[in-house]
Amino acid sequence: MFRTNQILLSLFMAFAFYACVHEYVPEEKSSWNIRAELSFADAQYWPLGQQIRLGAFASGDTKNPVASIGIEKPVSGKAVVAIGAVPEGTYLVKVYVTENTVFKADIADLGEFNVNSDQALTKNDIKLVTFSRIQQQILNSCILCHGGSSGQLAANLNLMPGKSYTQLVGIPAYKNASFLRVHAGSGNYSYLYKVLNKDIDFDHAASSSASSADKQLIFDWINDGAKNN
Ligand code: HEC
Repeated sequence: MFRTNQILLSLFMAFAFYACVHEYVPEEKSSWNIRAELSFADAQYWPLGQQIRLGAFASGDTKNPVASIGIEKPVSGKAVVAIGAVPEGTYLVKVYVTENTVFKADIADLGEFNVNSDQALTKNDIKLVTFSRIQQQILNSCILCHGGSSGQLAANLNLMPGKSYTQLVGIPAYKNASFLRVHAGSGNYSYLYKVLNKDIDFDHAASSSASSADKQLIFDWINDGAKNN
């Protein structure tokens, strides 16, 4: 028994020594900072319950950044942020939105950069509330029943990219023709918003998957004129 303890102790000591020595080996891989000056055109629509982030993405994975940082709601619409420890390589740098750390949608593309030194980037006039964000963040998850490869077209509504906008804006709702699906300028009178809020007289289970930030985005986009942007 005593011997076993001794062997275990010496194994532990050897490991501890190894771990200590290795902690002091200098980092060989070079890494760099990406600093960005950003200005947002509609910062009043900063989402609650989601995060706007700046990230560097390796080609082939547009959803999981190699390095990223959250951006605070800018008071004047302008934000200066820096991502540290970006390993050398070529990266797509973009502003995007996450919810519970899960990638939701692209917001703005700053371009692709070969990072082998510190980078200083600028992007102006970034818009948070756009139809392309709505498509990625919300409508792409609806196409199983609304126009996807299954061939289903529930309520005669196609929410596929490229189809959805003209199927929504100014079109009377199939389930209740006294409402437009999207009544530009009025979120409260738009059937799409009512469906996601379950303010309807039929069962629509998929509405439960829309977060309050999703609903807020739809509401703001409609009140902002429901532009095809
Ligand atoms: C599981 C299938 C399914 C999914 C997923 C689904 N829907 Fe639906 N949706 C339906 C059905 C079925 C109806 C019509 C119900 C009926 O006819 O009683 C409907 C109706 C609607 C309507 C009413 C359209 C009109 O003109 O009356 C809207 C708006 C709508 N869905 C939006 C969405 C959105 C946005 C999503 C994604 C967040 C979504 N749906 C996901 C099945 C689905």
